[in-house]
Amino acid sequence: MRIAVLGTGMVGQTLAPAFARLGHDVVLGTRDPAVTRARDGWDLELPLRPFEEAADGAELVVNATDGRASLDVLARVGAALRGRVLLDVANPLDFSRGLPPSLTTPGDDSLAEQIQRAHPESRVVKSLNTVNCKLMVDPSRVSGDSTVFVAGDDPEAKAVVRDLLGALGWRDVIDLGALSAARGLEMWLPLWVGLMSTLGTTDFNLRVVR
Ligand SMILES: NC(=O)c1ccc[n+]([C@@H]2O[C@H](COP(=O)([O-])OP(=O)(O)OC[C@H]3O[C@@H](n4cnc5c(N)ncnc54)[C@H](OP(=O)(O)O)[C@@H]3O)[C@@H](O)[C@H]2O)c1
Repeated sequence: MRIAVLGTGMVGQTLAPAFARLGHDVVLGTRDPAVTRARDGWDLELPLRPFEEAADGAELVVNATDGRASLDVLARVGAALRGRVLLDVANPLDFSRGLPPSLTTPGDDSLAEQIQRAHPESRVVKSLNTVNCKLMVDPSRVSGDSTVFVAGDDPEAKAVVRDLLGALGWRDVIDLGALSAARGLEMWLPLWVGLMSTLGTTDFNLRVVR
């Protein structure tokens, strides 16, 4: 499958090669490819395109951009999002007033829903935003089967994302239903940040015990 990963931070740099290792045809999106390629330590060989071009022809688009910039970036992508599955892994975090971070979205909304409203012809699925990027692509970093979630209004789009999660090694995938469940998934982040400072590691996750 052709996958466009929008974002060249830790998440984009981790997800893109993982999808390529699974045999997908992966393109990364960034503001300015020349600037990104010139970054210290940039060693990804995958194609790097401006955000405006990266999603052309992609079946799945991943939003792995800074949550405060995501709506702007996706507006630049525009028509290429029509009909596409849009996997949103971003978090709308605001660290400007220190820790814990606050969310840039009100309690009765989420970044994922804002994206879906801005791009009604895309099919947004929220997933993977609740774990560190290393765990996203290797859930065995924590012991036992921990839990990852999907939320979205389009069942076929969620099935595409669930297949990808399975290929990455996720076995306990909980479908929370409609995209409005992304509110809770994003609200977990202030607690996630607190756990990270208390535990001193990013290798932890929720396991929902039934
Ligand atoms: N780090 C994790 O393990 C983790 C885990 C779960 C969820 N998340 C979420 O995943 C997303 C990506 O996180 P990250 O740590 O990889 O990187 P990040 O620093 O949050 O985001 C980097 C990306 O955002 C773009 N960006 C930043 N400011 C921009 C602006 N003003 N206009 C346009 N684009 C802008 C950058 O563009 P350039 O490519 O041009 O630099 C880059 O591609 C975030 O929403 C984060 O909350 C992160």
